[in-house]
Amino acid sequence: MAVRILAMCGSARVGSVNQKLLNVAVQGALAAGAQVTVVSLRDYPLPFYDSDLEKELGVPDHARRLQALFGEHDALLVASPDYNGGYPALLKNTIDWMSRPIAQVRSGMELFANTPAAVISASPGPMGGIRSMLAMRGVLEKLGALVIPQSFTLGQAYQAFGDNNQLNNEVVAGEVKAVGEALVKCCRAVRQG
Ligand SMILES: Cc1cc2nc3c(=O)[nH]c(=O)nc-3n(C[C@H](O)[C@H](O)[C@H](O)COP(=O)(O)O)c2cc1C
Repeated sequence: MAVRILAMCGSARVGSVNQKLLNVAVQGALAAGAQVTVVSLRDYPLPFYDSDLEKELGVPDHARRLQALFGEHDALLVASPDYNGGYPALLKNTIDWMSRPIAQVRSGMELFANTPAAVISASPGPMGGIRSMLAMRGVLEKLGALVIPQSFTLGQAYQAFGDNNQLNNEVVAGEVKAVGEALVKCCRAVRQG
């Protein structure tokens, strides 16, 4: 059975450079033989996490849908924009809700545990969102994900893509695709045990 990857961008805006970067990494995963599901977090709006809200209403349907979807995949590929040296609230809030209990005896954290993951980032600044990428790695590691060492941060991202939304520099594109390929290889290694 093909490796299945869930790809998620921490920006839901039209023209997001992180979404464009994610799409390039996805091309690498597809070329390596994976099936990839790319979700837009615009399709899964969630309230800010609040434990009183959770007690009263439970885990929202959109979070449950994301949990179910994640459970059908072997790995998580994340593009994490840089907001003031960290990841966006949209991305962290989504992950926080996904980590909440699926059923009374099962934690959403189990979805992340021992699941291969990769993080990339793009920003208009020179650092390419490296602080966001590193911080998001830390979140996923805390949840038990197997965050692969391969990653990519794209600086000056507003100048990096052509009208076709592909990276202008083929060498850079190859490095981004290599992250997707590495994630697929990690999934295969985990399956082999
Ligand atoms: C609140 C906020 C803080 C930001 N802080 C940074 C930053 O520290 N470094 C940086 O390079 N870009 C920063 N940016 C710019 C974003 O990286 C830029 O808007 C980028 O396009 C967001 O990613 P997207 O294109 O995928 O939506 C910030 C943007 C916002 C809205």
